[in-house]
Amino acid sequence: MAHKNDSKADAKKNAVKKGASPITSPLSDSDRDVTGRVLQDTLLDLIDLHLVAKQAHWNVVGKFFRDVHLQLDELVSAARGFADDVAERAVTIGVSPDGRAATVAKGSGVPEFPADWSTDREVIEAIVEALGEVVTRLRKRIDETDKTDLITQDLLISVASELEKSHWMWQAQLA
Ligand SMILES: [Fe+2]
Repeated sequence: MAHKNDSKADAKKNAVKKGASPITSPLSDSDRDVTGRVLQDTLLDLIDLHLVAKQAHWNVVGKFFRDVHLQLDELVSAARGFADDVAERAVTIGVSPDGRAATVAKGSGVPEFPADWSTDREVIEAIVEALGEVVTRLRKRIDETDKTDLITQDLLISVASELEKSHWMWQAQLA
């Protein structure tokens, strides 16, 4: 007769050992650790960037509402896509990504976005600041991955390239 505790014991047996990766890494342990941390930090910034852009998308008001509202959704899609690419690179090198809300709140480097309505100009200024910060942090990480993993570095370069382009397009509206 099956015992009540059997399923518990089975679940325990089948659980992934905490701290041990079921995915083999193409990198040495130390390169994997440095690269994994860089990817994790980048993931938090990108998730937060997408949340801030959505918050702004909903709360923007003003003469240029429509342009800003639509441009924000382009940023949301880009940031979400990049977050997925970065998280999946972490998995590929054997590192478990952590994109939970509490982890994002603690670790993101994106400046806090205010609650309530924002004018189109306030939103543009906040997004310029957020993108500038994310790109500055990314550029440091591009340097950090130079000796640990060129494939991750290549991914970070492509993300930075797109975000820098977006940074220009947001800044252009403040002239
Ligand atoms: Fe929408």
